[in-house]
Formats: sequence, C-alpha cells, structure tokens
Amino acid sequence: MKFEASAPSNIALIKYMGKTQAIGNKPANPSLSYTLKGLQSVVVVELVQSTSSLISSWKKLEGGEPFELSQKGQQRFLKHFNTLCEKYGVSGEFVVHSRNDFPAACGLASSASSFAALTRAFGLMLRELKGTTLNEEVLSQLSQQGSGSSCRSLFPEWSVWEDQGAKGIEFPYQNLIHDAVIVDNKEKKVSSSEAHTRVTTSLNFNGRAERAKMRLNNLTHALRNENWKEAFEICWAEFWDMHSLFETSKPSFGYMTEKSLLALEILKNHWELEEDGPLVTMDAGPNVHLLYRPDQEILKVRLDQKLRSRGLKLWSPVGEA
Ligand code: PMV
Repeated sequence: MKFEASAPSNIALIKYMGKTQAIGNKPANPSLSYTLKGLQSVVVVELVQSTSSLISSWKKLEGGEPFELSQKGQQRFLKHFNTLCEKYGVSGEFVVHSRNDFPAACGLASSASSFAALTRAFGLMLRELKGTTLNEEVLSQLSQQGSGSSCRSLFPEWSVWEDQGAKGIEFPYQNLIHDAVIVDNKEKKVSSSEAHTRVTTSLNFNGRAERAKMRLNNLTHALRNENWKEAFEICWAEFWDMHSLFETSKPSFGYMTEKSLLALEILKNHWELEEDGPLVTMDAGPNVHLLYRPDQEILKVRLDQKLRSRGLKLWSPVGEA
C-alpha cells in the first residue's frame, strides 16, 4: 500500500526565530507567512509489510529535482514519521520516499514542504488503516513537532502561527509572485535549528517577542487595508531585526554577503524612486526573497533587469535562473 501527498514551501514575513521549548518547536513569537504553491515536496509512504514492530527507512522518490538528504536529515525525517506512528499506534515496515519539485538552488529550505507533505501522507495512511481523519489544523500541529515552520505550509495562501497553532488567514492580496535573488546556495554554516538557540543569547532578544507581535498586528492591518508600501516597510524592518539578532548573538554569526547587501540597496533605491516594489524578506540565509502582486508584472521585469545588470542571479518558479 502506498500513500502519496504533496505540500508547498512557505516564506515568512514575520519570522519565527527562537523557541520557548525545543520539544515540539514552541515558538518564542508569532509568525506570518505566504505559501509558495510553486515549490512543492512529494512524499510517498509505502507500507511494505504489516508487522507488530515499527521499521522505517528513507529513499529518494524518482523524478523531481536532484537533491541529497544527509544521514542526519534522513534520521530527522524518519524520527518524525516514527513519532506519528507511535502516537497513533501504527506499526509495520515502511519505506518513506520523498522528493522536491524545486531546486535546492532557489534558496529555500525544503524542510517546511517535506515535513508538511510527510505529515499529510501519514494522515492519508491513518485514515485508511485506522479510519481516523485528521483535519488541517491537527495535521499542522503534528507537522510543527517535526519542523516548526512546516506547520504554516498546510494552508493554501497566508498563514498565521500563534501559541494555539497555525491557521489559514485571508487578505485581499492573492496569487503573489515569488522571486529570489540567489546569492549563495551552499549549505549554511549555521543551521536554522542552531540559529533558534543562539539568538536567545543576544541582548536584543529581550523584547523580540513584543516587537514581532506588534509587527504582526501592523502587517495584518496594512495587508487588510491594501497598504502595500506600509507592508513592505514592516517586512523590511522585520528581517533586519532577525538578522541583527544573529549578528549580536554570542558567538555572533551572520548570513549577509556583499551580494545580499547589493541586492538590498538596489531594492531600497527602487522603492524610494518608484514608491512601489515587491515585499522583500530574508530567511536564515544570504538569499533575498521578493513577493510581487500580480499587477506588478511590468515593474518586476524592470527590477529584474536592474538586479541582473549588477551581476545578481535571480530565480523564479516560472522564469529562468
Ligand atoms: O522551521 P525551522 O526550524 O527551519 O525555522 C525556520 C526559521 C526561518 O525560516 C528563519 C523563519 C521562518 O519563520 O520560517
């Protein structure tokens, strides 16, 4: 028996950074993200044979983009699967197959999409084997246990993740276009898990939850009222806040490179000149992520040209890298 599910990645505009509890990935602050439909992971859970014990292994699913899952990555993935099985009393011999339908080079981690897809595939299996149906909120809470940010990938567009868990939220802005300025696609020196721990040593971590909450309120308000410029300003301050936490941690670390800064300068100048542009954000990495409204197609072409003319490389799910 095989159970197949897919799930998209997401990009946070209000960042989840820092945990109050490592077990269960309890976030220190609320976050808000936009789901990236074009960036999907696919998981197939295969029940090889029924046994009273639980045995699982991982295999790369044929097709998709080339990617490697390290031994550590495989263990983490299977640990999540085993935890789900144990929680719901499922046993057997399983092979968990997974693949990403987007290149590692797009600068977005695949953990959000792959853990969400794995949790969904488990949900399908549970319905078949035990007759138990888990709704999206429950799947999201389960997914959070494996990878924090994956809990926001269960919802089709905007998602807000607060103490009680993540849920979908609607704003007038839909069908946004995602682009990324690819500065570097090598593996990060400090993983996001490590970053969650280290930021708590920064003096600026005091008050971080309050700042994130305030920005979440302000951003929600701006998006509801279709105040795109205000939304840009909040997102801009928010990613800088997170990167300042990195730089002021003990020991300090950072992801910004000369190219990241060049991209940010071009984007800032563009906004100042044109009073319009994409929402800009950065994750725990050097790449710069852009979200355009669908009516900004022409502006996007011009801005892409500006970025490319300064030697920067762009990636977009529909365009060429
Ligand atoms: O889910 P994790 O542990 O990989 O954390 C992700 C953290 C950020 O991507 C930097 C921010 C976010 O909210 O997605």
